[in-house]
Amino acid sequence: MGTFLRPGQRKAAAFGVSFDTDRDTSGASAIIDTEKQSNLLHQRKRLPVTRYQREILYLLEKHGCTVLVGETGCGKTTQVPQMLLEAGWAAGGRSIACTQPRRVAAITVAARVADEQGCTLGREVGYKIRFEDVSTSGVTKLKYCTDGSLLREMMDDPLLTAYSVVMVDEAHERSLSTDLLLGLLRKVLVQRPDLRILISSASLEAEKVAGFYDARTVKTSRKRPHQEAAGNDDPATALTSSDPGNGKPADLSPAILSVEGRLHPVQVHYLDEPCSDYVVTAIESAVNLHRESVPGDILIFLTGQEECERAVTLLEEEAGRLRRIGGKNALRIMPLPLFAGLPAAQQALALEAAPRNYRKVVAATNVAETSLTLEGVTFVIDACHVKQKTYNPRTGLEALLVAPISQASAQQRAGRAGRVRPGHCLRLCTQEAFSQLQQATVPEMQRSELAGTVLQLKALGIDNMMRFHWLAPPPAEAMVRALELLHSLGALDDDARLSKPVGCQMAELPLEPRLAATLLAAVRFGCGQEIATICALLSVHSVWASGGGQRKAMEEAQSKFATAEGDLVTYLNVWKAWEDSGRNRKWAERNLVSQRVLLRAADIRNQLLYHLRRLGMEPISCENEVSAVCKAITAGLFSNATRLEGTVYESVDADYSGTNSYSLVRGTGGQAVRLRIHKSSVLWRVRPSMLVFHTVQQGPSSWHEMQDVTAIQPEWLPEIAPHMFQSVARPRPQPGGM
Ligand code: CDP
Ligand code: MG
Repeated sequence: MGTFLRPGQRKAAAFGVSFDTDRDTSGASAIIDTEKQSNLLHQRKRLPVTRYQREILYLLEKHGCTVLVGETGCGKTTQVPQMLLEAGWAAGGRSIACTQPRRVAAITVAARVADEQGCTLGREVGYKIRFEDVSTSGVTKLKYCTDGSLLREMMDDPLLTAYSVVMVDEAHERSLSTDLLLGLLRKVLVQRPDLRILISSASLEAEKVAGFYDARTVKTSRKRPHQEAAGNDDPATALTSSDPGNGKPADLSPAILSVEGRLHPVQVHYLDEPCSDYVVTAIESAVNLHRESVPGDILIFLTGQEECERAVTLLEEEAGRLRRIGGKNALRIMPLPLFAGLPAAQQALALEAAPRNYRKVVAATNVAETSLTLEGVTFVIDACHVKQKTYNPRTGLEALLVAPISQASAQQRAGRAGRVRPGHCLRLCTQEAFSQLQQATVPEMQRSELAGTVLQLKALGIDNMMRFHWLAPPPAEAMVRALELLHSLGALDDDARLSKPVGCQMAELPLEPRLAATLLAAVRFGCGQEIATICALLSVHSVWASGGGQRKAMEEAQSKFATAEGDLVTYLNVWKAWEDSGRNRKWAERNLVSQRVLLRAADIRNQLLYHLRRLGMEPISCENEVSAVCKAITAGLFSNATRLEGTVYESVDADYSGTNSYSLVRGTGGQAVRLRIHKSSVLWRVRPSMLVFHTVQQGPSSWHEMQDVTAIQPEWLPEIAPHMFQSVARPRPQPGGM
């Protein structure tokens, strides 16, 4: 894929702040560019949320929990935490946390706010995501963090005493961790009346969230605080209070504040006929729009990295053709991808305004729906699909699935077109099909595997899951499944309490339960070093340098490291070869491996080793004893063991004609589930009789496609997990079928 660096574009930095391994956390003050600073100030003043500063500060002073609703781009994420900062909420040694469901949002927003504050990222303003903490203890006053990383902090500091205010942002996304956090904060608030919780959302589920915090919901319109001010409470005192939140107990009833945005109308269009390939239709539509010479950038919503890269490749071909026809002075297309794993500099390009004479056409995933604001968009082309988690408690399988979006989600996406001027949204489905979409997206809590959630709650001392206050209660069957899985991994004892030491250790490791169990087993099997590498590599985006359009070259590069043991050991081989090269950047380039991703994995690997040592374990290397590595993998992933059943001939997808079909060894609760190895796997054309997988993706035509697979010996199952498997062929009968 061609990177589209515009003339004079900084290569490694976004918003003047560098990220990742290049980041500067040395503590030196940023050089403040005064012109830039005053521009930023001017922009800030014009944001709708700024007009509500008095109300926000007043409500926050008065209420334990405030719900803030406002359209995307009105300034909730960037401005509200700065208002709190400037009003002194971080003055008493405690700081302000603002949570984001997405890592990319936490990083870009922190960078933007550091810029607005004129400080170096990681000093007064910082961010924290899993495995990456860019903040300075005692100095950072405002921290943007993923909801998951704040949950992790609660393990050490259950009452979040480090914070005076926790802003749970993008609450409408209803991510698993946001929901869990909202449930826990409700408990914290009872014990910490000085704490303030601000829940912000781009859509109108505010009442429900507020109701969750208190039955006696207090509704507050824009005028209300002033009216209240006529009574005993003067908002002015809140504003001028030199010591906000000085331990005074807050009003326990929550408040709701709606910020009126300035969204322009967006005209929505539908297809007359359904389309067979939405990527192609999206590109055709974008090119048609471009040809009409109407002003404004185009934002295309697709489902994942591959689709975005394919769209950019198609657009580049079109851009070349149009350039030849249009002559020198014609407006040019600037195709840009935007997805979570993209390097920061490229993300920045998609977010910033396009240079003169260029029309930005951004092919984005759901990250552009609400968490990131793109400048200059007036056309949205929406494929009306999203890649999302689904969990079937009967089969115990959590898979990524490309599914139609909800109407609420489509509305948010359309809204992206109306920020600058009246806009247009083209939905790539018929109006009739659209009317049949579900109204709202099902909260992630209700479509996820819950083992990690249950483990965290147990570690926080919350044992009775059924009595926990859930914003959206998860299905009871999913809860039972989670308990069964944790029990089978040794994390829970027979009374479903956190086991010692294994359960406590697993909760301590920043890995999902199966991988945490793999790492702990590896220490016992003498291959802790190798599995730490594998876990680190599974925690980053693909090690292969992004390769749109060069699949063959990529396959060749991969084949150099491929091994019959499968993908995880292949990653290990890449790692070893990279280490042998002295972590050489040129070597990485030659082998189509991402230096940036490997450096990040190296950092994560160190952190995992640190965690193990903190738990009193000394991980060693098995040198070249690969079977130890595969056995450790089996010890964590045995619930994902599958057996080769035979070859199925059906030729819907040419790549898969003659598919090797697998079934789960543990059974699937009577449900028929067909599994096959995903094309991206090194074992795709091999037929190991038994394997374990790390993740599955639900592909077209009902197949579950296994990714990151490892070939195992059938006799390992009863040897390593005798409580689950009696003999080579049979699972042990379990009441729940697990
Ligand atoms: O959170 P909300 O969607 O309400 O808005 P925000 O993220 O605080 O963004 C407010 C404004 O700041 C946007 O309208 C953008 O103009 C600008 N912004 C930006 O230019 N670059 C960023 N990385 C973030 C925000
Ligand atoms: Mg926001």
